[in-house]
Amino acid sequence: MATQLLEMKGIDKSFSDVKVLQQAQFSLDSGEVHALMGENGAGKSTLMKILNGIYARDGGTVNVKGAEQSLSTPSAAQQLGIVMIHQELNLIPHLTVMENIFLGREFTYGPTKLIDWRKMKRESTRFLSQLGLAIDPDTVVEELSVGQQQMVEIAKALSKNTEILVLDEPTAALTDREIEALFHVIASLKKSGVGMIYISHRMEEIFRICDRITVMRDGRYVGTERVAETDMDQIVKMMVGREIKDRFPKVDITLGEDKLNVAGLSRKGVLHDISFSVRAGEIVGIAGLMGAGRTELAKALFGVDPIDRGTISVNGKPTSIRKPIDAIRAGIALVTEDRKDEGLLLPMSVSDNLSMPNLATVSNLGILSGAKERELSDKMMKSLFIKASSGAQPVGSLSGGNQQKVVIGKWLATNPQVLILDEPTRGVDIGAKKEIYDLMNKLAADGVAILMISSELPEVLGMSDRILVMHEGKITGQFSKKEATQENIMMSATGGGEPHAAS
Ligand SMILES: Nc1ncnc2c1ncn2[C@@H]1O[C@H](COP(=O)(O)OP(=O)(O)OP(=O)(O)O)[C@@H](O)[C@H]1O
Ligand SMILES: [Mg+2]
Repeated sequence: MATQLLEMKGIDKSFSDVKVLQQAQFSLDSGEVHALMGENGAGKSTLMKILNGIYARDGGTVNVKGAEQSLSTPSAAQQLGIVMIHQELNLIPHLTVMENIFLGREFTYGPTKLIDWRKMKRESTRFLSQLGLAIDPDTVVEELSVGQQQMVEIAKALSKNTEILVLDEPTAALTDREIEALFHVIASLKKSGVGMIYISHRMEEIFRICDRITVMRDGRYVGTERVAETDMDQIVKMMVGREIKDRFPKVDITLGEDKLNVAGLSRKGVLHDISFSVRAGEIVGIAGLMGAGRTELAKALFGVDPIDRGTISVNGKPTSIRKPIDAIRAGIALVTEDRKDEGLLLPMSVSDNLSMPNLATVSNLGILSGAKERELSDKMMKSLFIKASSGAQPVGSLSGGNQQKVVIGKWLATNPQVLILDEPTRGVDIGAKKEIYDLMNKLAADGVAILMISSELPEVLGMSDRILVMHEGKITGQFSKKEATQENIMMSATGGGEPHAAS
């Protein structure tokens, strides 16, 4: 019989007068995987940071294994066996993998406490291989992909004596294979009695690995359901307070002329002879496994990475794109997948971030206008439903999904002809996803050509007019909306199947 590990009750928390949590509650049993769900900004990460001693609560009680705890510091939480894997990565970029894993807990030997590098290396390798990772523990973390960094965070958690493990959107940046490895680890931790709190916006995942789901809305507790006794519709309704009928509200419109033509695009070792076009009003989805070259294609089109061969034309005019500014001038905008590294300046305000690629719009004769900046940011915050106290709030203190909306907003404001979206709804809640889809429909109706890279197949199938599949830097499949299925996309994505012409 499972025993109760944790009970949080009546938790209150405000940040400078804004009530972020009000009477929030959560409980966890040993050997349980308990999902915490809610829209962006509902307070999930904040509640978990309170459990981890990162934020102090204003009110309420936290009971761990039958004893009330104040959890006033992160180390107090750690001593109780509470470990959190953060939504935004927390590794130190210039240290190695093993230095990060054992930071502050280095193995030592002898009376002078010399660091035992060999033992650290051996132990790091052990935890990494549990996750199916063949990373050298001596690698400097900043050389790893975001997904690999996330896996190192998980290895770090495994290396601690964990009884309660919080996973805050652990899979957002992982490949399918890494996700399977993580689920394996979760299953074995579950067997050994570890209780896990799992935060994710991916419904399918939650229904696969969780036992119970607790839903929060606007900082309050809504309810807890057993996964076996509920369904997605009920959970969505609890999260957003209304029903969302149509998860993918794709509107079909009459397509115009070609907006974007790409011919023979190549970059040594990365992209091989890529040719395709996107018409005005068309949404073209790009599917493929992680590492297939989709982000590289986006970066080449946007002038981030140089190309060796090939042409990119917008509105029938060949462009010469060497830098992002050339792409912006040609009418191309790119919403990047990695908002922390490339998308946003976290300490700066929402309004500054929105203005960045739009300096001409927010200036008068070359001088920045505060009024114009505010106008732009008010407009974008309103049309994208960005949840922030005002345009002056630093982007870094917004919830994850709201940060994503700021990234989209800043590029939308450039009025692009061609909009490239790389994983546009990663970390975004179901209501906000729908807002982003509605926005894509609206832009398509205005004649924008949209290229949407996504790893979520339901999204690709639901929102695209046409789907291109990439594998090892090549286009290995092309399907019309009618022809496309999960199976034929996966077949092309893994290199099987014949290239296919869309009808
Ligand atoms: N350090 C902070 N200072 C000010 N406000 C904050 C801070 N941290 C969080 N908030 C606010 O608290 C609210 C809840 O944020 P939180 O990060 O807990 O949401 P979340 O449920 O984890 O959302 P997401 O799904 O987007 O990650 C948001 O409105 C956010 O702007
Ligand atoms: Mg969060």
